[in-house]
Amino acid sequence: MSPLSELYQEIAACQRCDLAKYRTRAVPGEGSENAEIMFIGEAPGWHEDQQGRPFVGPAGHYLDKLLASINLKREQVYIANVIKCRPQGNRDPLPSEIHNCRKWLERQIELIHPKMIVTLGRYSMAMFFPGKSISKIHGTAQKRDNAIYYAMYYPAAALHQQSLRQAIEADMLKIPSLLAQAESMTQAKQEPQQLTMFEV
Ligand code: URA
Repeated sequence: MSPLSELYQEIAACQRCDLAKYRTRAVPGEGSENAEIMFIGEAPGWHEDQQGRPFVGPAGHYLDKLLASINLKREQVYIANVIKCRPQGNRDPLPSEIHNCRKWLERQIELIHPKMIVTLGRYSMAMFFPGKSISKIHGTAQKRDNAIYYAMYYPAAALHQQSLRQAIEADMLKIPSLLAQAESMTQAKQEPQQLTMFEV
């Protein structure tokens, strides 16, 4: 069994917080083990909880369209969430839940080793750009630890708000050139990456 599959089994058995009592399925994440880009959303919603897969409801279909706009399919990237189980009623994740779930995301990042991390929405952004505001930093990237971190709006919010929709679509189009920069960075420097994540 691959280390990623082993990790999925551990996540499926996780009882670190009360979300485990209410989940239909845990939603570990999915995509290519060799993905260069990792997208990190907030938490599973109803559809994701039913299927055990990230971004499969309306926001997920929109994410698929955004990926298609830069000629990518979801199988070519890796998609995960900050929280692996659905908060009841789709409420916002609690700080304690984010804290308890943090080690899963850290291990995913270690295993996937992405060249670029794209945060989707403010909960994911807060782990990589602490203290920043999404309305100020969306569409901007930071190079750090031999990788590129890039903040985008939350697809579920952009789906229903025209101004965010224009912004998220424009921000997505910047990804290919940023990824090319990330590739030249990693070619120049072959040391293993240690990606930085902050406590929120
Ligand atoms: N929103 C998220 O943040 N993640 C999902 O998996 C679905 C919707």
